[in-house]
Parts: sequence; C-alpha cells; structure tokens
Amino acid sequence: MKAAIYPGSFDPVTYGHLDIIKRASYIFDELTISVLNNVKKTPLFSVEERVKILEEATKDIPNVKIESFSGLLVDYARQKDAHVIVRGLRAITDFEYELQNAQTNRLLSKEELDTMFFTTSLEYAYLSSTTVKEIASFGGDISSCVPDFVGRMIYEKYGIRR
Ligand code: PNS
Repeated sequence: MKAAIYPGSFDPVTYGHLDIIKRASYIFDELTISVLNNVKKTPLFSVEERVKILEEATKDIPNVKIESFSGLLVDYARQKDAHVIVRGLRAITDFEYELQNAQTNRLLSKEELDTMFFTTSLEYAYLSSTTVKEIASFGGDISSCVPDFVGRMIYEKYGIRR
C-alpha cells in the first residue's frame, strides 16, 4: 500500500491545501494529514480545532485521515512507518525553505523519508493561511480562500460580524 503524510500547521486549512490534499489522495492509497502541535507558536486555532476543521473539509475523501503530532517530523513518520512526505510548492520563495526541510528530513531519517512536492494550482499560488488571517482580521472577503464554514470560524475568532 502506498501511504504518505502531509504535515503542516493548517492554521487554518485553505483551498490551496485542499487542492494538494485532493491531488495527493488520487496518487496515494492512504494520505494522513498531520497537524503540527507547535508549542512555540500561538496559532489562531488550537490543534484540536484545526484537526476538526480538516476532518470536516475532507469528509468526502475516503482515503484521507487527520492526525496531530508534536516534535520532529522524522520521529513521527518513523512511528507510523511512513516514507513519503507531501508538501505544496507555491512559488520560488517556498523553494529554499522546503528544500532545506526535505534534505534535513532525509538526512535525519537515514534516507528513509523522501519529500514529494506538488506545485500549487495557479489559482491558489497567492494563497497562505497567514494572508487569509490578515484579510479576515480587517473584515475583508476570504470567500475565495477558504470553505464558508472555515471563513465563519475565522471571523468569529476576530470578533468580526459580516
Ligand atoms: O505549514 P507549515 O507551517 O509550513 O509546516 C511546516 C512543518 C510542520 C512541515 C515543519 O515545520 C515541521 O515538519 N515541523 C516539525 C519539526 C521538525 O521536524 N523540524 C525539522 C524539519 S527540517
């Protein structure tokens, strides 16, 4: 069985992430979306909320499951006996960071873990969770960025009525 993990912060999931999830789910038999519980960051949504949001957003994709993890990605991947990481590449600006992570993970895993990159669909090339939160915090329109139920949850976090 071909299995992969798609790790990330997903704070919150955007249409860009969902595009990658859908495309990766066609290629792998099982895709685990792994939400990082990073105690060093203060996310807008708790890890539990991010997991729930992802569960709802991917409920129609049968071979996708959602988990959370903390610590090193290589340790988590080893526990799961996973050998492929999925990541999206939006633009050249993502490349250096992603290349460094991919190479570090390959080294730390003693070459047991490879990263497979999906180039983001052009319509989502501009999209990031950070941008979405910035727009929403000023009451801007994020309907083209995230599913409606996610949008409502973001506005609620910022105390914005639309
Ligand atoms: O959505 P993000 O924030 O770009 O995802 C980054 C993520 C979660 C993939 C990366 O920060 C990660 O794997 N963190 C876990 C800690 C770790 O293993 N760090 C070393 C990677 S080189």
